Amino acid sequence: MHLALDTPRLRLRPVTLADAPAIQAQFGQWEILKYFPRKIPWPYPDGAALSYLEQTVLPEMQKGVRYSWAITLRRDPAQALIGLIELTFATPYDQRAFWLGQSWQGLGLMTEACFAVNDFALPGLGMPDLLFTSADANTASNRLKEQSGAVPIEHGLYDFHAGRLPITRWQLTDSAWAKARSAVWRSLARWNPDDFTITNQPVSS
Ligand SMILES: CC(C)(COP(=O)(O)OP(=O)(O)OC[C@H]1O[C@@H](n2cnc3c(N)ncnc32)[C@H](O)[C@@H]1OP(=O)(O)O)[C@@H](O)C(=O)NCCC(=O)NCCS
Repeated sequence: MHLALDTPRLRLRPVTLADAPAIQAQFGQWEILKYFPRKIPWPYPDGAALSYLEQTVLPEMQKGVRYSWAITLRRDPAQALIGLIELTFATPYDQRAFWLGQSWQGLGLMTEACFAVNDFALPGLGMPDLLFTSADANTASNRLKEQSGAVPIEHGLYDFHAGRLPITRWQLTDSAWAKARSAVWRSLARWNPDDFTITNQPVSS
């Protein structure tokens, strides 16, 4: 079953069609899209978020082959989407994807979201490992993998919007996550949920 997951600052809730406008606005931002595959069109066409949700994301969630959570702030009564984190089993090497609106980056929020999703997938679903891919230039994304105990298993090249770039494929085993998770949790102590205010800054596309 696709459940909501709570962390100290976040509520990860299943994405819905009502999230399409927020996703559409964020995918108009180059900084969000630059390390995504070229098969996602850029500039992002009007209505693309809605049709992607309708035709791909929601049917796959129903079939149980994708978990797609809207990242929302627990303190926001509207639970507006500020980012997305997904587990997908369509490819064997890119099983978790995430992005966060620029206004909310650099606050440890994706560390917190990944913590919940790693727990959901590894001990939760009983998966032996998770496999990830990212551009070597995407420092924050790679740091999220390293800090959780993932190790590089393969290198290559891939076509991103930012160009054909070196990539690394990573493996996070259940045992590596079990070892790393306390340190990741402790690293979140630098962010006090009580000091955290909602900005909900609008995004212009
Ligand atoms: C990648 C992304 C999700 C990171 O989210 P975030 O909430 O800003 O990340 P966090 O604040 O939890 O930081 C995670 C780690 O990366 C580091 N980091 C964050 N931003 C960084 C930056 N711009 N440069 C270098 N390191 C950075 C943090 O210091 C932290 O490491 P630490 O625990 O050792 O201190 C966000 O930058 C993003 O949405 N980027 C655009 C979409 C994208 O590229 N998605 C990934 C595709 S594989």
